[in-house]
Amino acid sequence: MKLSSLPRKLKRGMPYLGKELRAIVSDHTPLFIAKPRTVHIWRGAPCNAKCIMCDYGFLKGDALRAISRSEFTDDMMPRALDQIAELCGRGTLVSYMGGEPTVNRCVMDWVEQAGKLGLDFRFTTNGYTMTEEMAQRFVAAGLFNVGVSLEALDPKINEIIRPHFNGTVKTIRAIELILQERQRQKKFVSINVKTVLTDVNLESFLEIVKRWGKVDGMMCTPQAFEPMSNMPPETKELLYIKDVKRLERVVEEIRRLKRDGYAIHVTEQGLNEVLKLYRDDKNKNSTMHGAKMEMDPSEPDCNIGTDNMWIEHGMVKLCPYHPPIGNFMTETDRTLKQMWESEMTKRIREQTRGCRRMCTISCLRRTPIVHKVSTFLKIA
Ligand SMILES: C[S@@+](CC[C@H](N)C(=O)[O-])C[C@H]1O[C@@H](n2cnc3c(N)ncnc32)[C@H](O)[C@@H]1O
Ligand code: SF4
Ligand code: SF4
Repeated sequence: MKLSSLPRKLKRGMPYLGKELRAIVSDHTPLFIAKPRTVHIWRGAPCNAKCIMCDYGFLKGDALRAISRSEFTDDMMPRALDQIAELCGRGTLVSYMGGEPTVNRCVMDWVEQAGKLGLDFRFTTNGYTMTEEMAQRFVAAGLFNVGVSLEALDPKINEIIRPHFNGTVKTIRAIELILQERQRQKKFVSINVKTVLTDVNLESFLEIVKRWGKVDGMMCTPQAFEPMSNMPPETKELLYIKDVKRLERVVEEIRRLKRDGYAIHVTEQGLNEVLKLYRDDKNKNSTMHGAKMEMDPSEPDCNIGTDNMWIEHGMVKLCPYHPPIGNFMTETDRTLKQMWESEMTKRIREQTRGCRRMCTISCLRRTPIVHKVSTFLKIA
């Protein structure tokens, strides 16, 4: 981190710190004063690719059409952003996920609106459609953070998982364009390179880390492969990590690179959970979507519901695995703020605290404050 960027990071970080304090009070005393720090907007939307590990890659016909559209339509987003700003104020990440975001023409408007409202907007992209003009507009609009998915620097490996013509070159170019643009505009947008750890590309993640993990404002995230239940068995077989010892070696190397100052976005607990998943799940039957695996009873309570909110296909939730606290599409007379503060939400929040599910959301919960601060200093 450059010293000259510290004032900007501190200015941007103060509202997050305020929220962190509210969350601590809310988790440890009867007083609940927390507000969402991250609002996740998840919806069905089209994608321009067919990665083999993803629903968009293997679903067909009606099933594919179902995930490519949403009842939560584009025109509902501006109202959602206004209400998120009303409930959460500054120091809020709005994390958008729906197919491939850059193929939606409205995304640029949402980034601009979020910027004006003081919200920090982010999304993840495959980068295939990124042009110079697009990068220029995203950076100018105040995009806070962009995830770019890449499984390997080597096209021969990356394109097994992400089969797309010239895909690797396009994705790497997207990263370079954003870097170039933020340099040119002297504005800041952080970049998070995301890699799914599979049997095909396990060590490739380490190469990605070595390429970008020390660039200011860049970080690399290892994502646990989810062998979804409806995935073709041959894909599951291909991608599932067979040799736990090999995974252990890579995890050890990730720890070493972290110690050497490479920005890798994963906690020690996150790494241990991936290892546990592979050690315990010998038959590849459980998916992290499924409810079959449980956390160790010694693990602390889940506090996801303290400072996270989802709008998932228009349903407002504290966690995707728990019942909704409202319906954004039909309950137009109730705001997100009213939903967050309702009695029913209190009851559902209690349920989420006691939840023992081993889930991929787990990387968002119970993150030590030191990790949060160091992550923030990298992305802000
Ligand atoms: C579903 S994509 C949507 C955003 C965008 N289209 C992209 O590819 O970056 C979001 C992230 O989920 C990851 N992903 C997809 N299928 C997965 C799986 N089976 N297990 C783990 N991560 C997966 C992708 O690699 C990507 O980083
Ligand atoms: S680009 Fe993203 S949404 Fe599309 S198939 Fe690949 S992982 Fe799935
Ligand atoms: S443990 Fe996972 S599924 Fe359960 S409430 Fe927390 S984040 Fe949600």
